[in-house]
Amino acid sequence: MRIVSIANQKGGCGKTTSSINLSACLAHKGRKVLLIDMDPQGHSSIGLNVNISKLKKTVFDALWDSNDAKVVLDDVTIRVDDNFDIAPSNISLSTFEQHLSRVQGRETRLKEAIDGLNSIYDYIIIDCPPSLGLLTFNSLIASTEVMVPIEMSLFSLQGISRLLEIITLVREKTGHEIRIKVIATMYDKRTRIAKEVLQDIKNHFDDSMFKTVVNTNVTLKEAASFGRSIVDYDQKAKGFSDYLALAKEVIAEEKVLGIGSVKQTKPFPLPTLVEKQFFYHAPKANRVNIVGTFNNWNTSEESLMERKKDGTWAKRVYLAPGTYQYRFLIDDVWVEDQNNSYQVDNVFGGKNSVVEI
Ligand SMILES: Nc1ncnc2c1ncn2[C@@H]1O[C@H](COP(=O)(O)OP(=O)(O)OP(=O)(O)O)[C@@H](O)[C@H]1O
Ligand SMILES: [Mg+2]
Repeated sequence: MRIVSIANQKGGCGKTTSSINLSACLAHKGRKVLLIDMDPQGHSSIGLNVNISKLKKTVFDALWDSNDAKVVLDDVTIRVDDNFDIAPSNISLSTFEQHLSRVQGRETRLKEAIDGLNSIYDYIIIDCPPSLGLLTFNSLIASTEVMVPIEMSLFSLQGISRLLEIITLVREKTGHEIRIKVIATMYDKRTRIAKEVLQDIKNHFDDSMFKTVVNTNVTLKEAASFGRSIVDYDQKAKGFSDYLALAKEVIAEEKVLGIGSVKQTKPFPLPTLVEKQFFYHAPKANRVNIVGTFNNWNTSEESLMERKKDGTWAKRVYLAPGTYQYRFLIDDVWVEDQNNSYQVDNVFGGKNSVVEI
């Protein structure tokens, strides 16, 4: 079984589109595929017509070992098509980090859930959230491979080195190989910048990049909005031929890689991610986000802080050693950390707070 995380902490680079359509194309070519939605936004689930607000069981239940009857991953999966199942998620998954903050072995929950699967799959594709938190960490530890979609636009390489560092960390700590391969996405051949970025990325990643380039194609967006994969929606679309070509490339690798599972030989030591709590006292605020270089300044649901009774907002994040800049977004106002005097100037004429791990 090949277990593939589709990961990049940068938002909107095509993780979900690639997860859905690569999975669908692999199934179309006769492989048995499970797509695991590891994003609390549930975009893979929504994109395959799952009504995520009505779900009784989600990936969260299979990861969270409650006192009630144990839910396993097989209990959660929903049939999408012949050969194609999905394990859906919704916002409940965003509480995973809080629930497991003090639990030993929290990084290996997804791996254990996959090891416990009764159904047989050739491929497990994991759609990761746009951050490098515990959910992505669980996905990487469970994976034999990571595919990194990179959008062909300016700044698209920003943050990639951080992801590669984390993968190297997982590789060292777990003792298992994780193969990394880049997928060029949203390529618009009419623009010069796309050509330049593609060339840049080819130079940089060389063999660790798929030859298939996924073009910008509005039918991919349209298919998702109708809750269908491109296989199901329009096989005449460019998006279909691109993802089918990608699937064929992936399948051709089976000769080299095999599709046998990679057995873990060493027990998992705890990785050196450091737990860091952030606080901001704002009793009148309706919403507080913590945003910074650790999540690519992304203000998605995952960056929301939790309000305590006394009006303090708190958020625990897990960071690899390094230096990070951050700010809080209080309703619509950006502020620096009132509890941290270490600040640097930012390009907007204000200050960013800095934390060293
Ligand atoms: N090849 C493409 N052509 C046109 N639109 C695309 C393509 N790939 C992705 N999109 C669109 O770009 C947006 C972002 O894509 P997608 O949701 O796959 O990114 P993501 O990396 O999963 O985002 P997030 O980080 O929020 O999870 C979506 O609206 C999607 O429909
Ligand atoms: Mg996504």
